[in-house]
Amino acid sequence: MKTLLKIQSSIFSGGGQSTQLADRFVAAWREANPDGRVIVRDLAKEPVPHLDAARFAAFIAKAEDRTPAQRDAVAHSDALIAELKAADVVVLGLPLYNFGLPSTLKAYFDHVGRAGVTFRYTENGPVGLLTGKKVYVFAARGGFYAGTPNDTQTPYIRAFLSFIGMSDIEFLYAEGLAVSEASKQQSMERARAAVDRLAEAEREAELVAA
Ligand SMILES: Cc1cc2nc3c(=O)[nH]c(=O)nc-3n(C[C@H](O)[C@H](O)[C@H](O)COP(=O)(O)O)c2cc1C
Repeated sequence: MKTLLKIQSSIFSGGGQSTQLADRFVAAWREANPDGRVIVRDLAKEPVPHLDAARFAAFIAKAEDRTPAQRDAVAHSDALIAELKAADVVVLGLPLYNFGLPSTLKAYFDHVGRAGVTFRYTENGPVGLLTGKKVYVFAARGGFYAGTPNDTQTPYIRAFLSFIGMSDIEFLYAEGLAVSEASKQQSMERARAAVDRLAEAEREAELVAA
């Protein structure tokens, strides 16, 4: 049985354009994987706390030395990591806010990027430990950024996820959503068609591999 983890980070939860594209992909995945399990992590409804010095101290303290409060902080991070580890497929809804990723998603990344747990340093450099997963990113933007130096998200998401072992990443963009209503409709229509093509291609690739 395969597991898909959907991480949505729109402040509008299910109403976000990035979430709607992610949901469309997940619906197609469910059809292709009727026995599959889908886990949803909504970072707007259940935000992860910002990383601060106390929390970071808890992460790096030896297990036997942790205070009860530190154990709670680590248990939260461990649970998020366990969810990621269990996933064969990760679907990420990615809005663009003020030229960057949602702060809730950054806080989440700060909880799952843990030395010795999701990556480790070796003599040959860092090694990611969350391997063997496929990641699909559904990005929604008011303007046009893909392929330009102003796209701060694509290289960052690729770098961070690859660092923890998740380097097989597919990006799909819906852009120009704030230009006009017509531009939004056209862009979302194109993006929905691209989601359908992507889901179909993945389904065919899985059939060939099976
Ligand atoms: C607080 C906020 C900040 C935004 N900042 C940008 C921005 O810097 N650049 C841009 O092109 N669009 C920006 N937008 C437009 C969003 O990228 C667009 O509405 C997109 O659909 C957001 O994804 P979502 O619908 O999944 O939340 C912003 C929207 C909001 C609500």
